[in-house]
This record gives sequence, C-alpha cells and structure tokens, in this order.
Amino acid sequence: ISDVRDDIKSELLTRAQLHDRINEVARQVSTDYEDKNPLFVAVLKGAFNTMAAFSQAVSIPVQIDFMSLSSYGAGTQTSGTVTVRQDLSVDVKGRHVLIVEDIIDSGLTLAWLVKELKNRGAASVEVFALLEKPARRVADVNVKYQGFTIPDEFVVGFGLDYNEQYRNLDSIAVLNPAVYQGK
Ligand code: PRP
Ligand code: MN
Ligand code: MG
Repeated sequence: ISDVRDDIKSELLTRAQLHDRINEVARQVSTDYEDKNPLFVAVLKGAFNTMAAFSQAVSIPVQIDFMSLSSYGAGTQTSGTVTVRQDLSVDVKGRHVLIVEDIIDSGLTLAWLVKELKNRGAASVEVFALLEKPARRVADVNVKYQGFTIPDEFVVGFGLDYNEQYRNLDSIAVLNPAVYQGK
C-alpha cells in the first residue's frame, strides 16, 4: 500500500504548531474585524485547510467565499500568469475582505488578487498567509497576518500540493527531491 509519508524528507511544521499559530491569528482577526462582518476569501485549492482551521477558530460573524486561482500548473516554478479557474459567488463591493492564502512564494498570485478585489470596490483588502517564503518574492504585497516564515524548500501538505498530490497531509513537510527529479 503506498503511503504519502514515504515521499516526505522531513516535517517542517507539525499539525499542532499549525493549529496553535492559526488560533493566535484568529484571535487577532476576531478583535480587528469585530462588527465588520468581514468576507473571508480562500484562494483554492491550496488554502482549503487553512480556511477550515482558521474560520473555525474565529469567534465573530463572518462570511466565507472561494476563488480558485492557479499559477503553478504541474511544476515547482510559478508560470507568472494567474488563471481564474473559478470566481467568487458574492459581490465584494463595500466589503471588508480578508484573503486567506496557504503560501506566498513569488507573491504574484496575491498581488494580482489584491488589485483585482480593490478594482471590484472592496472597502478594504487584507491578507492572512499561513506560510511565507521571502527568498523567492518578486511582487511586493502587504501581508497583515502571517503564520510562519519558511526557508526556500518545496513544501507540501495542509493544502499545498506537488502535481496535485499531498494536499491531504495534516502537517507541512519537505518533499523528497527524488519525487520531482527528472520531471
Ligand atoms: C500556489 C499556492 C499559492 C501560490 C503562491 O497555488 O497555493 O496560491 O501558488 O505562489 P506565488 O506567490 O508564487 O504566486 P497554485 O498556483 O499551485 O494553485 P493551487 O493552490 O491550486 O495548488
Ligand atoms: Mn494556491
Ligand atoms: Mg499548487
């Protein structure tokens, strides 16, 4: 029986570490957005676990929506072009939007989305990113809420994929390079 854990080189952030930090951010956001009925927008697919854990830890009324964006395709390098696979189902005009992302790498996905939501008339647009890889930043994005800063290694799990696999790991792990070598 194949086990996804066989392809893991090392665990970077445990499930407990992720949830502890997400709970801290959720407490801060609950204070900052009190009486604002914010709209949380998860960037699918990667942010699905972050949104689940985060939204359950928030104690104020919120609305939740999803936008599916892709810039990576099947590789480990960004293509630089953001594709909308599925758009939001609500109008963001006048809303206080908090984008929920799993990771900021080049920053291109987020820079595009922040601009797009402002263009659509959002009252405010802020970002919660669970992970950040500063080494690879190209676009300048203001990230108000951050989970963890991580080194420049290709990580998977807790929503993050390599070639659409490993999203179901409950922690953040470094993939064994043998998995993608020669691809
Ligand atoms: C990944 C990740 C972020 C984005 C970050 O998504 O989930 O959304 O890339 O990279 P960037 O800062 O260089 O733009 P991906 O395009 O792989 O789609 P997915 O979420 O469906 O896996
Ligand atoms: Mn993504
Ligand atoms: Mg991906």
